Amino acid sequence: MNLPPYSIFPNIIGDKVSLRQIQPTEVNGIVEISYYNAIQATAVEQAIEMQGKINKDYTDGNSIHWGIIDNLTDKIVGTCGYYRGLDKGAGELGFVLLQQYRGQGFMTTAIALAIEFGINNIGLKRIWAETTQDNEGAIKVLERLNFFKIADLDDNGIEYEFISRRYHS
Ligand SMILES: CC(C)(COP(=O)(O)OP(=O)(O)OC[C@H]1O[C@@H](n2cnc3c(N)ncnc32)[C@H](O)[C@@H]1OP(=O)(O)O)[C@@H](O)C(=O)NCCC(=O)NCCS
Repeated sequence: MNLPPYSIFPNIIGDKVSLRQIQPTEVNGIVEISYYNAIQATAVEQAIEMQGKINKDYTDGNSIHWGIIDNLTDKIVGTCGYYRGLDKGAGELGFVLLQQYRGQGFMTTAIALAIEFGINNIGLKRIWAETTQDNEGAIKVLERLNFFKIADLDDNGIEYEFISRRYHS
């Protein structure tokens, strides 16, 4: 296992999108998709405070949170990361796109990069995501990337796990 924090924050460059550390100046553009402990920010100050907590979780080795960057414009279109389980060799993925960037394949591409990093660099033995039965967009992203439903949870929740031959070999 190679848990965070790393000597250099891992920026991952893909063809369509890149994953990189969110800059303080970018937070005002992602207020509506800033969450901490499932609470959504309603003001930029709150989003900045949340970003501070997220950075501390990274420094403490408990999570890694990336901004998703559209390589064509260099603009942040969403966020994703691993937010729980790292100490047990597992990673719970979370992901969200700004509304105007949905439906263009940004998240599927970003999560593919995050999975690759999780397996090859962190050394995760398991990757999972939790969503709800009515979250069609999230389910499509997960199923497109070879996640399979493994459990029904309380309150309409569902748990998906990434299954790959390479990962289990
Ligand atoms: C979940 C969420 C990220 C999905 O967003 P999305 O835009 O549907 O996902 P992608 O960026 O991967 O785009 C996929 C869509 O773009 C289309 N697309 C266009 N170009 C594409 C490409 N190159 N690659 C893949 N898909 C492409 C796909 O056909 C798909 O459209 P469809 O749903 O009509 O089939 C978004 O709805 C969201 O942020 N929701 C709120 C947060 C949330 O629920 N998070 C999940 C909690 S675990």
